Amino acid sequence: MSEVETGIDYGPLAVLIGVWEGDRGEDIAPEPDGEEHNPYYETIVFDAVGDVTNAESQTLVALHYRQVVKRKSDDKVFHHETGYWLWDAGNGTIMHSLTIPRAVALLAGGKSHKDGNATVFEVQAKWGDPDWGITQSPFMRDNAKTTAFTHTITVTGDELSYRETTMLEIYGRSFEHTDKNILTRLG
Ligand code: HEM
Repeated sequence: MSEVETGIDYGPLAVLIGVWEGDRGEDIAPEPDGEEHNPYYETIVFDAVGDVTNAESQTLVALHYRQVVKRKSDDKVFHHETGYWLWDAGNGTIMHSLTIPRAVALLAGGKSHKDGNATVFEVQAKWGDPDWGITQSPFMRDNAKTTAFTHTITVTGDELSYRETTMLEIYGRSFEHTDKNILTRLG
């Protein structure tokens, strides 16, 4: 697998490849006594990194992505995320692995479908799910546990919008941590 591999059929993932920017981000995050709303802007880079064969029978194609998110109020990075989007053409499964520097990682699974000109990706993961699970440090498990994650991305031409919900157990309650944005592909 080389750094950036073209000449491969990336299937539905092909529409994601490129550099995307958007400044209409809306984050809702937990606070001890309520919630905070953070307008943000961000860059997401999806690189085509090739294919892999698993157990000599499953072939996956992969995009690597890196997402850097800055708060509008102070221009500081307040969310950083990386992982892979994978497509298993054999059974039409989309997989999304991600890790964030809070000591949380997950592997979400789902499908993609066409909706007119749009390609829609929908994946989810749940704590304890044997298929699409969540892994976190003991501290996070005990104090700020991620219990479920859903993520929908819609790509229409050079516009990408997403909405994700991260369910947390934090400050003695259940909290719906949400993020959404609309991005444009740079030429
Ligand atoms: C654009 C995407 C995201 C942004 C902008 C964002 C932003 C934030 C912010 C501002 C907080 C509150 C931090 C604090 O008060 O110190 C937070 C908390 C948290 N986020 Fe996110 N987040 C994003 C996505 C995610 C994802 C995808 C996950 C995991 C799957 C995640 C997991 C958490 C956890 C576990 C906390 C609790 C930690 C805490 O508040 O002390 N976040 N996030």
